[in-house]
Amino acid sequence: MVNPKSLRGRDFITLMDYTTEEIKYLLALSRDLKSRYYQGDRYTPILTGRTLLMIFEKPSTRTRVSLDVAATQLGMHVIYSNPQELQLGRGETIADTARVVDRFVDAIAARVYRHETLLELARYAVAPVINALSDQEHPLQALADALTLWEVKGRLEGLKVAFVGDGDNNVAHSLMIIGAKLGWEVRIIAPRKYWPTKLAEELTEETRRTGAQLVISDNTDDVRGVDAVYTDVWVSMGMEAEAQERRQLLRPYQVNAELMARAGKQAVFMHCLPAHRGEEVTDDVIDGPQSIVWDQAENRLHTAKAVLLALLA
Ligand code: CP
Ligand code: NVA
Repeated sequence: MVNPKSLRGRDFITLMDYTTEEIKYLLALSRDLKSRYYQGDRYTPILTGRTLLMIFEKPSTRTRVSLDVAATQLGMHVIYSNPQELQLGRGETIADTARVVDRFVDAIAARVYRHETLLELARYAVAPVINALSDQEHPLQALADALTLWEVKGRLEGLKVAFVGDGDNNVAHSLMIIGAKLGWEVRIIAPRKYWPTKLAEELTEETRRTGAQLVISDNTDDVRGVDAVYTDVWVSMGMEAEAQERRQLLRPYQVNAELMARAGKQAVFMHCLPAHRGEEVTDDVIDGPQSIVWDQAENRLHTAKAVLLALLA
């Protein structure tokens, strides 16, 4: 059993820092908040008088809007800014910014190019720092992914998920971490250049503990029999300089009707979105009967609420 107080005041930068029980607690809380939301309980101002500062170095639709709506529904005030509108854009350091805003706000959500920026914010701010996506991880997304799979498959245990495409990006990393924590089989199917070898090594002890399996392969036949096929864009934000090479290497890893047929009828299709239709996924798959991408996106709201509540209530 998790003591809810044990989550209070913590940073939410990586799911590596959270135990299996804590992750299950956050998922159960998300599910509970979602069901209350559907019963009409939308405004629960438990965090009235608190402020969430969001600093986003990159564009965002789902993360920005879901965090803002989640905080608002909990009674919080929200400030959104990009670095250019802050003195950060004129060279004030992350450390000095963190020390100052920490005296005003109760939590800082940041979307950054470099994961180290989050660590630097956390070093100088006492308030919880929430990772709204970095080059390395996207833990809010992984929570929503796990909640969606739990709802759709009716269980959290023993799931098999294949991530096909850029296996070394933020979304793939967070999926591996949550999969390792929850005892899943996660298959990363990617060209060798995009294998998440370093993270897989770092997760060895965790997988041994939970019985999870991390399989890394360059063979798309390895989608057979999985519960879910997951993909993400081939060119993540900040990687535009490599766009041409990535599109070329990743072309054989497109999730299309043929690949979904190889996976099997039981497999759902997942994508964190935004999708580049016609690249990593075809229209017929993302709009087809196996796709659960809109439920996945919807769950960003309820998981964001759970995180804010757990860290701040
Ligand atoms: N999935 C996700 O994080 O989307 P946004 O970039 O729109 O926030
Ligand atoms: N891997 C993508 C995820 C966007 C939500 C990116 O970093 O651009």
